[in-house]
Amino acid sequence: MEPEAHLLLGETLEKNAIDKSEYPRTAEIENRCVNIIAGLWNAPDEKYMGTSTVGSSEACMLGGMAMKFRWRNRAKKAGIDVAAKNPNLIISSGYQVCWEKFCVYWDVEMRVIPMDKDHMSLDIGKAIAQIDEYTIGVVGILGITYTGNYDDIEALDKALTEYNRRPGRLSVPIHVDAASGGFFAPFMEPDLRWDFRLDNVVSINTSGHKYGLVYPGIGWIVWREPEYLPEELIFKVSYLGGEMPTMAINFSRSASQIIGQYYNFLRFGFDGYRSIHRRTRDVAVYLSKTVAATGLFEVLNDCNKLPIVCYRLRRSAKVPWTLYDLASRLQMNGWQVPTYPLPADMQDVVIQRYVVRGDFSMNMAVEFAEDFETALASLAEARMLGQKVPRFKIRGFTH
Ligand SMILES: Cc1ncc(COP(=O)(O)O)c(C=O)c1O
Repeated sequence: MEPEAHLLLGETLEKNAIDKSEYPRTAEIENRCVNIIAGLWNAPDEKYMGTSTVGSSEACMLGGMAMKFRWRNRAKKAGIDVAAKNPNLIISSGYQVCWEKFCVYWDVEMRVIPMDKDHMSLDIGKAIAQIDEYTIGVVGILGITYTGNYDDIEALDKALTEYNRRPGRLSVPIHVDAASGGFFAPFMEPDLRWDFRLDNVVSINTSGHKYGLVYPGIGWIVWREPEYLPEELIFKVSYLGGEMPTMAINFSRSASQIIGQYYNFLRFGFDGYRSIHRRTRDVAVYLSKTVAATGLFEVLNDCNKLPIVCYRLRRSAKVPWTLYDLASRLQMNGWQVPTYPLPADMQDVVIQRYVVRGDFSMNMAVEFAEDFETALASLAEARMLGQKVPRFKIRGFTH
């Protein structure tokens, strides 16, 4: 962030975001941020509700809880035995770990739709087939953690409209986990329909510290209308003076990141965000072309969504080294390049991934490209390679 933003964050560290009576202007700034975000996500009218959170993880937890509580209220009214079994949530295997936490913490069955070669995002047909009267909702991911691909939320919405139309069914909503895409797609692809323009999308979350360009940890969630955030989840707190509603899981935390988010909104504006993101995408495209030009790798994400470069070794490459060897070569020059297997059903595919951020300059990218080519050249001549499978435990991408 800019030096002025550093100063501002430092000066506001002591403000407690929960204490809206003592810091009414901070509360106002948070509301303004929610308004700006709701506008970016095309919330239909002034009925939306939202809050800042500690990153997308807390926001997803709130989105999931709202769906669960709303489902339970409606299911009881419809005469469904809500105690007979756990409710379920449908999501692709490209989910981030916060959804697994949500399901474990709240006794929700996670119905995972596996990704496969032909479906590197949510397989909508399979998702719809998994729905029953215990389904609290379907999560669409705008920016799959593993590959940066987007789920096709518009197609999911269409399929759900069809599903929900049949009489006697509890309608099934969509929560969009837009941790990465929520602050990227509105600037770069404003015509992409993934947000509140779609009827079944009831809530959306994002991380302010990803393409919102603020330091960690700040997140946001917005609900389309109060109807989608059951009353039971809104607590009225009076001991700080005045009666204030709170819907966050956390209580005390510094307000500095909220203020940092507002600073960025005012400082950059829509055009500023768009030009920063365009530059970031140019860097990602350059890196992706560098990788593709070697002929050794299959690039899985062409950067036409998020500025993420993700690739695997081509089978035809016939090289004796693995992506783990390449990662350790790159590490010799100080580059940490995540290398990991894809999730369940695709775990045989090992990928390498760069998430390009706004502060990754073209100069740095050129330097990286040189080191990348040098690493490949030295691997081609290497007489001794590391172990076939690294000794450390290989795990999926977990953060
Ligand atoms: C799709 C998705 N959801 C949730 C999260 C969790 O975000 P946070 O780190 O803001 O809690 C991430 C982080 O990588 C993510 O990619």
